[in-house]
Parts: sequence; C-alpha cells; structure tokens
Amino acid sequence: MPEATKVNAMFGRIAERYDLANQLLSFGIDRTWRDRLVDEMEWRRPKTIVDLATGSGDVAFALSQALPAFVTIKALDFCEPMIQQAKSKQATIENSCIDFSVGDILSLPIDSEWADAISIAFGYRNLEDRATGLSEMKRILRPETGHLFILEFSQPHPVYRPFYYYYLKSLLPNMASLITGDKAAYEYLSESIESFPDRNGISQELREAGFSDIEAIPMAFGSVALHIARA
Ligand SMILES: C[S@@+](CC[C@H](N)C(=O)[O-])C[C@H]1O[C@@H](n2cnc3c(N)ncnc32)[C@H](O)[C@@H]1O
Repeated sequence: MPEATKVNAMFGRIAERYDLANQLLSFGIDRTWRDRLVDEMEWRRPKTIVDLATGSGDVAFALSQALPAFVTIKALDFCEPMIQQAKSKQATIENSCIDFSVGDILSLPIDSEWADAISIAFGYRNLEDRATGLSEMKRILRPETGHLFILEFSQPHPVYRPFYYYYLKSLLPNMASLITGDKAAYEYLSESIESFPDRNGISQELREAGFSDIEAIPMAFGSVALHIARA
C-alpha cells in the first residue's frame, strides 16, 4: 500500500492544477461518477455527512448543493494545499457552510457514531493502511443506519483492459505532465490502480471490517466502482 508521507507530498505538489487535470484526463466523465455517489446518498436522507479525502472539495460541494440546507457536512483531507484549494473555491460560493479541515483518515478527529454517511472519492486507494481506515470509518458512522460510499477506480472488464492500461500507462502520464508538470504523480496513479483489488476484493475488505448490505455498482466498463455498505 502507498506510503502516506509520499502521497501527502505528491498531492501537495499537484494541488493547484488538480481540478483541471481531472477534467481533461477523464474527458469530463469524472463529474458523472461523483453525481452517482450524490444520488445514491441523497435518497438515504443523511443529516450528518463526512467527505473524506475531500481534496479540492468537489464531492462535498456537490452534496451540499443536492441536500437540504440543514444537513451538516464536514470535509477532511490530510494534505493542507488541497484543503486550501477547497477553501478558495468555497469563498466564491454564497452561504457555503461546509466545514473543511486538515485531518487523517487513519486517526479521524471526529466523535464516534457522529455520521449518517461517509463519502470517499478516489481516496481509499491512497491509504497506507486500508483496514485501519475502514475501522475508523466504521467507528464514526452511526451503527446499523450509517452508510459508507466509496467511489474508486477498479479493474475494468477484460475486453476493455488492454486499452485502459495503455491509456493509463502510456498516454496519461505524458498528458498529465503537460498539465501539472508532474509526470511521477500520474505514473503513481496508474501503478496504484493496477495493484488495486477488483470489486469483489473491496467487498471482501468491507465485510472483514464488519460492514453489511455491501453492494458495488460498476461504471465506465468497470474501470470505476461505487461501493456502498452499512455500518
Ligand atoms: C485523488 S484525490 C481525491 C480528491 C477528491 N475526493 C476527488 O474526488 O477529487 C485523493 C485525496 O486523498 C487524500 N488522502 C490520501 N490519504 C489520506 C489520509 N490518510 N487522510 C486524509 N486524506 C488522504 C489526498 O491528500 C488527496 O487529496
């Protein structure tokens, strides 16, 4: 699993150009993946939400737009420059009440059983210790009713796999280096995706962490998945 200090420094280096790179390199489809997460969370009517590995805050902003104003949203990331990006965006939005702060998923600064829902988009893969991360997430979720939503890259359908990995390993790092000036960060991205478990593997990790009602929704030919589980 990736080393936390390296991951933190890497996101710090690309923070300013992170949003632009996301949009260009995913051809804008990343927004539809986040929208699906928001839709799945919305109908479960949570009142207290934590968006983990919030980065520049796009999931937190989408949730706050879709859900009623009384819903409390905390958003955390351990990379300070990413939280600065989120706060700069927040300053341009009227009446945004999202509480952005610096915090580590492996030791969450949140009371036990506080959250009705947790979202984590493209952050779970980056954890140094996924079992500890899941145990912290379970701790802060309300038992029985709290839900976890993990949006993450996954292993695509075998037919699509050669094209997908050609794009990830050969094209993407070169394109990304033009946008962010940091080729290594996007080489890490393709390596971390290739070594990441498929949907069944993540479901198994959730089961081992004590979650129930586990489901996995494939998107983009299986290259992305939304995992939903109950605490
Ligand atoms: C690929 S970005 C995703 C950002 C955002 N959720 C999105 O969908 O665009 C991954 C984020 O995970 C954060 N991260 C990685 N490990 C973390 C940890 N242990 N605690 C908090 N944040 C972490 C990184 O700093 C980075 O901002």
